[in-house]
Amino acid sequence: MSNYKLKIAIAGATGYVGLDLVNLLSKHPKIKLVNLCATRNLGKKIHIFDGRLKKTLPKISRLNQVKWNEIDLLFLSLPNGAAHNIIKELYYKYSHLKFIDLSADFRIKNHLIYKKYYKKKHNAKNLINNSLYSIAELKKKIITNYRIISNPGCYPTSIQLALYPLIKKKLIKLDNITIDSKSGYSGAGKNYKKKFKYKNFGSATFAYSPISHRHIAEMDQEFKKISKKIKFIFNPHLIPTFRGILSSIYIHKKKGVTINKIVYALKKFYSKDNFIKILKQNTHLGTGNVLNTNDCEISVCNTRYENKLVIFSAIDNLVKGAAGQAVQNMNLMFKFKETLGLK
Ligand SMILES: NC(=O)c1ccc[n+]([C@@H]2O[C@H](COP(=O)([O-])OP(=O)(O)OC[C@H]3O[C@@H](n4cnc5c(N)ncnc54)[C@H](OP(=O)(O)O)[C@@H]3O)[C@@H](O)[C@H]2O)c1
Repeated sequence: MSNYKLKIAIAGATGYVGLDLVNLLSKHPKIKLVNLCATRNLGKKIHIFDGRLKKTLPKISRLNQVKWNEIDLLFLSLPNGAAHNIIKELYYKYSHLKFIDLSADFRIKNHLIYKKYYKKKHNAKNLINNSLYSIAELKKKIITNYRIISNPGCYPTSIQLALYPLIKKKLIKLDNITIDSKSGYSGAGKNYKKKFKYKNFGSATFAYSPISHRHIAEMDQEFKKISKKIKFIFNPHLIPTFRGILSSIYIHKKKGVTINKIVYALKKFYSKDNFIKILKQNTHLGTGNVLNTNDCEISVCNTRYENKLVIFSAIDNLVKGAAGQAVQNMNLMFKFKETLGLK
């Protein structure tokens, strides 16, 4: 079966994330893209939306035209609130079919918290526990047990990759973490101008949602699995660039812990991972190296106060924060080489 190619459908192929998914999957040696679905522009060629894409790819079609018996895996890259209805309909009817959802629909285990943050009733509550929230580096050993993979949010990916090992190893104080994240405006999807009424998107910076950004819910949930005591402030910004996230995470070291020990702990934790690059301490960091890659670069830096450090974490929101991580999760799910189609 080594020549077998997975048959893939993508729902939401014409969105910002969907187009990056099509781009990555169209070059993946173990994949055949069968259906590229959206609600508009039906019958048009996908390359008109993105010059990187081949003219020979399937034309845009409706989801109800997909022959599900012939599909192995459905990626859902839809606005929040759409995937849970679609997966509910297909999950029991097609027991061979697997799903990778890039929205928030299966990220939050408690449907009441999902409703609080996303203002939507969850219609597939029974399936939430059958799904796995997967930052790929953290779930490698169990991912093959699941048919529904919930791909994490972009900001939470940059933040959890930096903090998870340090919380787990008890190296930092838990009650005083401040996270300041900056994202390119593609983070808000192709209708970003409707979602945010700010002026001068292409040349101005905006702070938003310091109290109740939706990504707080999934970070709270995941961090509390390793420590009930964690308290953090999350302050997101949109910056005048298309893609890329830089998170600046201010932490206090525990007594007796040195910056060397923190850098060593991160290096050791990710020593077998291809996409996580722990830089030499006090290295300046921007998003420049990670754009259009599935990499996450992390740099731990001193501040002018001995016990306080800042950790910078940079990813591409559309790749490691979305499409790339989804392909990485697919590789792990189907036991392909983890880096296939990504390096
Ligand atoms: N942007 C990011 O950096 C990022 C990162 C991580 C996760 N995410 C998540 O990934 C998902 C997609 O994000 P995005 O930024 O790509 O959004 P987007 O640019 O707004 O694209 C949404 C896509 O979904 C399609 N669509 C909308 N409603 C649909 C429906 N009912 N049935 C089928 N297709 C439908 C749209 O096609 P039509 O226009 O034809 O309707 C479009 O192709 C969202 O849940 C988002 O939260 C985004």
